[in-house]
Amino acid sequence: MARALYPGTFDPITNGHLDIIRRAAQLFESVDIVIAVNMRKASLFSVEERMDMARECTRDLPNVAVLSHAGLMVDCLRSRNAQVLLRGLRAVSDFEYEFQMALMNKKLDPSCETMYMMPSEKYTYLASSVIRELAALGGNISEFVPPGVETRLRDRLKEAENS
Ligand code: COA
Repeated sequence: MARALYPGTFDPITNGHLDIIRRAAQLFESVDIVIAVNMRKASLFSVEERMDMARECTRDLPNVAVLSHAGLMVDCLRSRNAQVLLRGLRAVSDFEYEFQMALMNKKLDPSCETMYMMPSEKYTYLASSVIRELAALGGNISEFVPPGVETRLRDRLKEAENS
């Protein structure tokens, strides 16, 4: 069985991500959730907070680990002795970006394979930014994120209101 990395920003992790992680944990020897230190995106939560949230909600999965990485994902793949980069494909609009990234990663490391999983249809419209916006506007997010993430999100938004 191959070892997989599941990279992303996870700001914060959602039930859509967890759906993929849980299914992948059954298919791969191990799945490392890699919180990418992404310079292009401003984040609400620090890398450590995002790692804590991911750890909390995958505690029951013995072959899932959580780490962060600041450089190229193919370097992380090599250092973790993994073979597969796993990505979720939610809609056709994800395809072009994913296609470009998979080809670039293949160019950087020909042994790197990118594999895609489709999240359950009830999560296809989810994105972390949508959850952040919904929470900020007082919407109910309990169906989209684990309870620990919901609490942290509410606390963070309260802190922002009071500052
Ligand atoms: N359920 C819910 N939401 C999902 C999802 C799922 N299954 N899959 C993706 N998303 C959402 C994310 O929440 C995120 O939402 P946001 O944009 O509102 O924050 C969005 O889809 C895309 O996110 P993500 O999967 O986190 O990808 P990304 O584009 O933020 O990150 C990296 C891409 C980090 C994996 C990529 O840039 C990378 O590998 N960087 C390292 C440098 C490198 O090697 N680059 C490639 C070669 S140059």
